[in-house]
Amino acid sequence: MTEPLLSIDRLSIDFPSEGGPVRVVDGVSFDVGREVVALVGESGSGKSMTGKAIMGLLPRRAEIQAKRLAFDGQDLTALSATAWNRLRGSGLGLILQDPKYSLNPAHKVGRQVEEALVLHTRLSGAERREQALDMLDKVGLPDPARAYSSYPAALSGGMGQRVMIAAMLINRPKLLVADEPTSALDRELQDQILTLLQSLTQELGMGLLLISHDLQQVSRYADRVIVMRQGRIEEQMAAADLTNARSSYTRALWAARPSAATYGTRLPVYGGEP
Ligand SMILES: Nc1ncnc2c1ncn2[C@@H]1O[C@H](COP(=O)(O)OP(=O)(O)OP(=O)(O)O)[C@@H](O)[C@H]1O
Ligand SMILES: [Mg+2]
Repeated sequence: MTEPLLSIDRLSIDFPSEGGPVRVVDGVSFDVGREVVALVGESGSGKSMTGKAIMGLLPRRAEIQAKRLAFDGQDLTALSATAWNRLRGSGLGLILQDPKYSLNPAHKVGRQVEEALVLHTRLSGAERREQALDMLDKVGLPDPARAYSSYPAALSGGMGQRVMIAAMLINRPKLLVADEPTSALDRELQDQILTLLQSLTQELGMGLLLISHDLQQVSRYADRVIVMRQGRIEEQMAAADLTNARSSYTRALWAARPSAATYGTRLPVYGGEP
């Protein structure tokens, strides 16, 4: 068998506190290949911390331990800051919840989509523009040339999120980590963006780790599902097998329908603090 893109073996993350270290991720192991893997769980279960560990973006105070944390054969626990920057600009991409915080309002869309090409390639300005327009077209912007020379404020939320995706994909990352990439959007746009991410993952032969608290929604776009609970993996399975989930926690998540109104609040799944 070939090496998976991402390989995680017994990842743990602690935060120091007055009463001793608090473990927020506890012995998590999973792989991601060229496929869509959904990482789901209630609020506070450790999904974002796991995603941040993969991206090298954990807060400085966090203490990380892993038997193995490797991307594309490269050991992520031993990377220098320079190597992290290179990796984030080329092999690994990250998409966050809200384009308003990810796009710089002071720069035109085209410049932001091209940024990774400026930093990580030697393409000419004309070549960069051509690739940016091509990518803006791929992510479904109706008028790529117009978007290219607009400021982010001129775009709707859904269009802004498409621009973010274009900026992330322009350097053809092998793995994309998308942490609640659509929760700032309305339902219809969420489905459009998730459909787009799923089809681009296939078209470009990438891996996608899709982090969400909405199991029912993301399972429609995922090949496999990993369910987290209180820092641990509760269960992992093929998305097609979800209806036969063994764990009652998974079944409760499956039945819960989070909405924009409940985002960020604790879902009524299980009592008790992690
Ligand atoms: N900087 C920090 N210092 C201490 N604890 C933190 C810090 N950031 C997060 N935590 C704790 O880590 C745990 C996991 O947080 P994480 O953000 O990974 O949850 P999540 O599964 O992404 O939840 P959500 O669905 O709300 O985004 C939570 O209990 C949280 O309180
Ligand atoms: Mg989170």
